[in-house]
Amino acid sequence: MAAAGSDSKAAKRIQAISTQLTSAPLSAATANVHPTSIGGSGGSDLKSFQAAEQQKWTAVDQYFVDRLQPKADSDPALSYALSNSTAQGLPPANVSPAQGELLSLLAKSCGAKSVLEVGTLGGYSTIWLARAVGEAGRVHTLEIDPKHAKIAQEHIDRAGLTNRVTIHVGEALKTLHAKDDSPGWHNKFDFVFIDADKKSNLDYLRYALMFTAKPALIVIDNVVRNGAVTDSTSTDVSVKGVQTVTDWLKENAASCGIESTAVQTVGSKGYDGFILARVKALNEK
Ligand SMILES: C[S@@+](CC[C@H](N)C(=O)[O-])C[C@H]1O[C@@H](n2cnc3c(N)ncnc32)[C@H](O)[C@@H]1O
Repeated sequence: MAAAGSDSKAAKRIQAISTQLTSAPLSAATANVHPTSIGGSGGSDLKSFQAAEQQKWTAVDQYFVDRLQPKADSDPALSYALSNSTAQGLPPANVSPAQGELLSLLAKSCGAKSVLEVGTLGGYSTIWLARAVGEAGRVHTLEIDPKHAKIAQEHIDRAGLTNRVTIHVGEALKTLHAKDDSPGWHNKFDFVFIDADKKSNLDYLRYALMFTAKPALIVIDNVVRNGAVTDSTSTDVSVKGVQTVTDWLKENAASCGIESTAVQTVGSKGYDGFILARVKALNEK
């Protein structure tokens, strides 16, 4: 168990809560209550269990970053992008170093040269992607908040990636709509990272499908939302945005030539996950 260490009392307490948690989703399902809403009188024990779990996930993330990505923490451009984002008051909604590396590996694996990103924030994921596409590659990233875009531009410039990245400031759907005109972005991209307001996920996916060359990869981030995605009664617009895009994929993936999966993740960013979709080549069965 996490954080048990030599403190056997704490270990026993966490063990007990863990057992409660294991059975809680079952009883909650029976009562049609979603597990993420369980709290009640055991709330503070549950909180300390969750804090211990988070500590473990963060430590494991760091363990692997230290060994598999030893340069990630000391990389001046990436480190500055993170520390300056915090200093400037940006929300900590960037991908983790491990997730940044994953995006980079995926983009490189499909030989991506042209990337579309929806949701720039401070440009942390943008830097990973811009490096992955290489010198001849290009990243177009969409951001609604001018303050975020300005800070991201500084980070991208400091990373020496100015020529590879274009930040489009404004409501992403408006930018995408404007690019739906000739000579727009049709068949332009081979990798798309969707990481903005979750309520518009389906619209972003539809544009992604119009704007990708085939084959292409599409990543939709934050689709698990601490498990809330399975809560059919949720009124949270972000949860509903994920459910809508997932239901759409269920109905339309086959006819649109898409194969996809969802991967649940834990780590320094908590419990979440992403959808990875591959748009097949035109002649592919
Ligand atoms: C999760 S953050 C992006 C994090 C970034 N991809 C990273 O990993 O470093 C989401 C960003 O999307 C932006 N955003 C939210 N709604 C948007 C919209 N409708 N159009 C464009 N950008 C939007 C937010 O301002 C925020 O900067």
